[in-house]
Amino acid sequence: MEREQVTPRSYPTNLIDKDWANRKHMGKKNSQSFLNAVHDMELRDDDVWIVTLPKCGTTWMQEFLWLLLNDFDFEAALATDQEIRTPFLEFGFLVHDDGERSFGPLRVLKSPRLIKSHYPLALLPSKLWEGKHKVIYVFRNPIDAWVSGYYHGVTLGFYYGKTLNQYFDEILSTDDFATEKIQHAHEFYQLRNKPWIFYTTFERMKKDLRGVIVEVSRFLNKPIPEQQMERLLKHLSFEEMKKNPTTNHRWEMAQAVHKNAGKEEHPFVRRGEVNGYKDELQPEQIEKANECIKRVLEKNNVTLDELLLLKDS
Ligand code: A3P
Repeated sequence: MEREQVTPRSYPTNLIDKDWANRKHMGKKNSQSFLNAVHDMELRDDDVWIVTLPKCGTTWMQEFLWLLLNDFDFEAALATDQEIRTPFLEFGFLVHDDGERSFGPLRVLKSPRLIKSHYPLALLPSKLWEGKHKVIYVFRNPIDAWVSGYYHGVTLGFYYGKTLNQYFDEILSTDDFATEKIQHAHEFYQLRNKPWIFYTTFERMKKDLRGVIVEVSRFLNKPIPEQQMERLLKHLSFEEMKKNPTTNHRWEMAQAVHKNAGKEEHPFVRRGEVNGYKDELQPEQIEKANECIKRVLEKNNVTLDELLLLKDS
C-alpha cells in the first residue's frame, strides 16, 4: 500500500501539550477526505473503542471486550466473525478504497458498539478527545509486534518472498518506522491515568489475564459473574483462540486483494509469546532493532519498560 504524510484536521491539544504541527502522521495515499470524515465522525454515548498498533494483542483484548459488552454470549461469539461483531474502522477504506464500507457497518451495528482502530490519537474522531467515551489501548514489545506483522504480511501477500531478516533490514533502514510506532503508544501512555483510558500491554495479559480482565471490567463498570470467568478464560486461551474460526480473521483474509495473498499462510493466532523474537531473528538484527528503538525512545523521553508497564511511574 502506498503511503504518504497526512495532516490531521485538528489536534488533541487539550490532551497533550506538544508541538503537534511537527508530529509526522502517515496514512494511505489519497486518504485525506476519509481521514477528515473520521475526524468529524458522530459517536454514540456508549461506544467503546479498542485502539492499538497492529499485532499487539488487539484481537485477544477485543474478543474479551465484545463478550463483556454482550452478556457473555459465547454462542454468538463462536458463530459470527469478530470483524462483523466489532468492526475495524479503517479496514473497508484501506482495502476497498471505499469509505462507505467503513462507515456503513458501524451505522447499523447495535449498541453498545465496540470499534477497533489502529489510528493514532490525532487521527481518531475528535469527539473521542472530549473524554466521554471509553478507550482501551494495548501495547506490546515492538520487536515481537514487528515479527508478528511480518508473518501476517506474508499471509496477506505484501511480504511474500521476503525473508524476516530482509523485512527487518527494510524497517530499520531509517528510524521512521519505529518513530511512528513509539509515538503512537507514547501518546496513549501519557493519557493512561485519564478516567476514560485503560492502557495495558500484551505482556501484562500474558502474565495475568485474569487480573487484566478484572481491571477492565471495573473500568467499564461491568462486573463479571463468577460462573462466567472460567469459561471466559478458556475461550480467551491461546489454544481456543487458535482453533476458533471467528477469531482468526478469515473474514478479512477473504477480502485480501494482493496477488500473492494466501500463497504462504501463517495462522493469525500464531505463537502468542513474549520475547518470541529472540529465537526468530539473528543476534545482529536484534541489536540493530534495540538500538533503533532506544534512539527513538530517548527522543520521546520514555523507556520501553515504562511503555510496557514493567516499571510503575
Ligand atoms: P504472534 O504473531 O506473535 O503469535 P493483533 O490481534 O493485534 O493483530 O495481534 C496478533 C498477535 O496476538 C499474534 O501474535 C497472536 O498470536 C496473538 N494472540 C492472539 N490471541 C492470543 C491469545 N489468546 N493468547 C496469546 N496471544 C494471542
